[in-house]
Amino acid sequence: MRYPSVIAIDGPVASGKTTIGRELARRLGYAFVDTGVYYRAATIAALDSGTPLDDEAALTRLAQGLVVRLGDEGESVFLGGADVTSRLRDPDVDAGVSPVAKVPGVRRAMVAQQRSTAEGGDVVMVGRDIGTIVLPGAAKVYLDASPEERARRRFKELAGTDQARSETDVLRNLKMRDATDSGRADSPLRVAEDAHRFVTDGLEVADVVERVLVALGMEETE
Ligand code: CDP
Repeated sequence: MRYPSVIAIDGPVASGKTTIGRELARRLGYAFVDTGVYYRAATIAALDSGTPLDDEAALTRLAQGLVVRLGDEGESVFLGGADVTSRLRDPDVDAGVSPVAKVPGVRRAMVAQQRSTAEGGDVVMVGRDIGTIVLPGAAKVYLDASPEERARRRFKELAGTDQARSETDVLRNLKMRDATDSGRADSPLRVAEDAHRFVTDGLEVADVVERVLVALGMEETE
């Protein structure tokens, strides 16, 4: 059978998309693209330029002039010439990103860049609307877990970094972003009809990767 060359992974905040997607890409020798960083970079641009996060016309104009570039196999993110990697998970970006990402003009500008990144194929792309809007022809995976499990994971990820914060703050931001991302009119988070859906509470990363590979018919690659 022919393996899918483009794999879309969608799901809510901290559902394991990046961890699973990165490991899947490594196993398959595919590129890994986290589309969340496009919206995080756009939010950094808005914050730096003093653009009000509820001014849709100004955010659209701003986004149309942005070029987001990924370096080091997706580990670094450049906005224009500036490396913004260390700021992507700052609390002000976590708080501002969903309001920025719900603006249709911002989405159009970012989706165009994401599609051109995926053009060559052999790519695992993760986000909220990858299977439904950005790459509808992709093999689709939807990852989910309970809010408490997801908050625990994100809290652990951030602990000991410059972006560390309390578990209560993590859970509050997660619920706010889930509500905005699922409730917005343009490209809301939803499960594509033909997506393979996994609920990952209590599962190890390796287990989830195996299950995804089996679902996609790619289990014997390693
Ligand atoms: O890693 P985490 O699940 O916390 O979030 P992310 O993937 O970095 O995405 C940050 C935010 O960007 C999300 O909460 C969405 O508001 C937005 N986003 C989006 O709208 N569409 C995407 N394809 C990816 C992210």
